[in-house]
Amino acid sequence: MTEVLGICGSARKKGNTAKLLEEVLRATGMESELIFLSDLNVGFCLGCLSCVKNKGVCAKKDDMKALVDKMLAAKAIVLGTPNYYYSISGLMKNMIDRTISTSYLGIGEYTGMDWHGWRPFVDKVGGAVICQAAFGGEQARGVFECLAEYSGLNLVGSVIASCGAQSVDDFPEYKEEARKLGKKIGEEAK
Ligand SMILES: Cc1cc2nc3c(=O)[nH]c(=O)nc-3n(C[C@H](O)[C@H](O)[C@H](O)COP(=O)(O)O)c2cc1C
Repeated sequence: MTEVLGICGSARKKGNTAKLLEEVLRATGMESELIFLSDLNVGFCLGCLSCVKNKGVCAKKDDMKALVDKMLAAKAIVLGTPNYYYSISGLMKNMIDRTISTSYLGIGEYTGMDWHGWRPFVDKVGGAVICQAAFGGEQARGVFECLAEYSGLNLVGSVIASCGAQSVDDFPEYKEEARKLGKKIGEEAK
């Protein structure tokens, strides 16, 4: 069973985000799986709010349901994205938008606001990896923090790696940060 789920928002399978995610996952010491959003068929959120009216069931029939099931089954979720224009990648934003349906599954911590629903990831440990050339990673991290606040995901740390046009392999300090984050996630998720 996947205990810690890594979700990669870069389409580059051997890119910096993927490499750092692998480092984090390994260091957790937990059963892990790394999912590339570019391998999945996840459509964009229609904003139709049918998930609000239909107990969390999304109107779109694509790969998001299986991904949500994996997220709900995992003890920890590590989100990784390249910084694109001071934000997360489109692949990652698309996926995060679609997690809105989980707020209406009736699980987690009730927010007391019907229009807001539940916090489905309250019992899960979270981590974030952001890879960039140089600037804007904090803003990208802000989107993950928003997801954490909304969903209850306990974001215990993040790595922002500024590698210019180089490979993260040239920056052992970021690999070390990633391992520290993984270790922390492993400890917190026990
Ligand atoms: C569309 C696009 C937008 C980008 N915007 C930024 C940016 O705002 N700031 C930055 O420092 N790097 C930016 N970059 C560089 C990437 O964040 C960087 O190359 C990152 O390491 C890519 O991660 P990957 O190797 O996992 O794909 C951008 C790259 C692309 C393709």
